Amino acid sequence: MSNRVRKAVFPAGGLGTRFLPATKVIPKEMLALVDKPIIQYGVEEAIASGIEHIIIITGRGKGAMEDHFDHSFELDATLEKRGKSELLAVSRGVATLARVSYVRQKEPLGLGHAVLCAKELVGNEPFAVILPDDVIDAEVPCLKQMMDVFDERGGSVLATQTVEGPGISAYGVLAGSPDPANPRIYNCTGMVEKPRFEDAPSKQAIIGRYVLTPRVFELLEQTEPGAGGEIQLTDGIKALLKEEKVFGYTFEGKRFDAGDKFGMLQATVEFALKRSDLGPRFRDYLKSLAL
Ligand code: UTP
Repeated sequence: MSNRVRKAVFPAGGLGTRFLPATKVIPKEMLALVDKPIIQYGVEEAIASGIEHIIIITGRGKGAMEDHFDHSFELDATLEKRGKSELLAVSRGVATLARVSYVRQKEPLGLGHAVLCAKELVGNEPFAVILPDDVIDAEVPCLKQMMDVFDERGGSVLATQTVEGPGISAYGVLAGSPDPANPRIYNCTGMVEKPRFEDAPSKQAIIGRYVLTPRVFELLEQTEPGAGGEIQLTDGIKALLKEEKVFGYTFEGKRFDAGDKFGMLQATVEFALKRSDLGPRFRDYLKSLAL
């Protein structure tokens, strides 16, 4: 078994109902954050972290993602004819970004089921899972930070953020204790999916980045579907916890939930302000609004 994390799975088979009607025809993962589809941020993060193979779990109506990460001959030829060399580089750059494979999830039977669809392509080696909705702005890519923890500790790693107050109920929450040697690492002993605020075992909320050992596939296969016939990834990880070490890791950086309207608005404002071509004008515009 290779112990290097070389492959990243992007579950993108969900229905994206929180973004209707925009997602009736357009996959949520293809919604633009400033000028880039949200999934491209995750793919770029994976490549920058050293990932060699991207595996996207797709579903009905998700074909636009396959076209996006491929050559567009008509577009490229037209840009070339018009002498638009910078735009041509952008278009070609996306197609050559990474080695990408696709697996179709025939029914959206949950995140755990989506990850399980990648079992054959991943094989018997540790792998990453990136939820494309979660866009993370970080100096060192979030996944790279997690892969370093995996290399050091040799156990699965779940990205977490500290959530104060009742907002914690929207997340899977870790139980356990902070590592004495590194306060960003959390020694995980359990987890609870969407607990009531009073019942939350900690403030450590799981977000959409995971480094997992392949044992999780077998455990997911044995996981009984829960509400709505869905197989939850957290149930597979809970089973993994009984056999192997699992760590939480409070990454350095800021995460945006771009699969949610408000999160997308926050990300749009912050990413636009950071852009050298748009930022100054956009800042002036925001200041001009009588808020
Ligand atoms: P979400 O619950 O955030 O996504 O799942 P969703 O179901 O698409 O969106 P809403 O809640 O209806 O708006 C987290 C991730 O898991 C993927 C989704 O595509 C998303 O990236 N997913 C979810 C699958 O790939 N398959 C599933 O069966 C469920």
